[in-house]
Amino acid sequence: MAERIIIVGAGTMGQSIGRLFATHGWEVHAVDPTGAARKAFLRAVSGATASADLDGAGQADVALECVPEELALKQIVLVALEDAVPKDAPILSNTSGLTLEEMSARMAHPERAVITHFFNPGDVVPAVEVVAAKDAAQGLCDRVMSLLRALERRPVRLEHAPPGFVANRIQHAIMRECLHLVDEGVASPAEIDEIVQWSVGVRMALSGPFRQRDLNGLGTHLSIAEYLYPDLCDRHDASPTLAGLVAQGHLGKRSGKGFYDWPTNAGDGDTDEALQRVIALASDSAG
Ligand SMILES: NC(=O)c1ccc[n+]([C@@H]2O[C@H](COP(=O)([O-])OP(=O)(O)OC[C@H]3O[C@@H](n4cnc5c(N)ncnc54)[C@H](O)[C@@H]3O)[C@@H](O)[C@H]2O)c1
Repeated sequence: MAERIIIVGAGTMGQSIGRLFATHGWEVHAVDPTGAARKAFLRAVSGATASADLDGAGQADVALECVPEELALKQIVLVALEDAVPKDAPILSNTSGLTLEEMSARMAHPERAVITHFFNPGDVVPAVEVVAAKDAAQGLCDRVMSLLRALERRPVRLEHAPPGFVANRIQHAIMRECLHLVDEGVASPAEIDEIVQWSVGVRMALSGPFRQRDLNGLGTHLSIAEYLYPDLCDRHDASPTLAGLVAQGHLGKRSGKGFYDWPTNAGDGDTDEALQRVIALASDSAG
């Protein structure tokens, strides 16, 4: 009999992770109080079922919460899942950066909760950041890692989880410097995009930063680090350029304007198919 996952929160991430499980032979059931979200989930995940409440969660082999990134809501959902799913079912959270300790604080057995941070879309982008409680059973961690590998993901378990985990810390460190260069009048967003995409961008698709630095030579990296670090941006608040755009309602493609103008019919170039081609190329080159 097929294994069954219950996904609480049928929005953007719930749908793409639901598709991932469904295409690997799982029965997928979504729980969401919003009728429109349930309908969209059923359209996006073939063969899935959906309901407004947790009735039927007793048959789940795995539970995953994908509700909005609000601590109080995550706490309520994790407690409800703990009561509703079988005792041996892993209870997973797709939080982008909340701590496991805070989210699981109200559970009777917080060591049952495991963060599995998928990236968008969860059925395309391979990496998953995994955080388990310090006193989590080894069997639970092993089971979650095996499950993710069986879903053809590339999970990495973190020893502990600072805010933003790994990927969001790196992404924000890069953007802080990009915005600083714009604020300083060094180059425009389009010019910085051109340089970054066609230099470190193409390299990073094929190799992580440490492997790439090994190839480049650590002595050179150290020499540059010694004179460059004092000059890098280390501001602790948001850049004026970013804050100004958001204050004017310029939120990027969804509002028609961000760093660029976005006509309603604009493509984004970052489609699932394009991502899949890049992932295939990177996998081939990794051997
Ligand atoms: N969107 C991304 O790029 C992305 C990437 C990685 C991780 N995440 C994380 O994934 C989680 C979900 O994000 P999303 O983008 O899918 O959000 P979303 O807003 O698209 O979907 C959230 C869904 O949760 C539902 N919901 C609200 N309260 C609920 C409740 N009590 N019970 C059940 N469902 C409820 C909403 O109706 C909505 O359909 C967040 O923690 C987010 O930080 C998002």
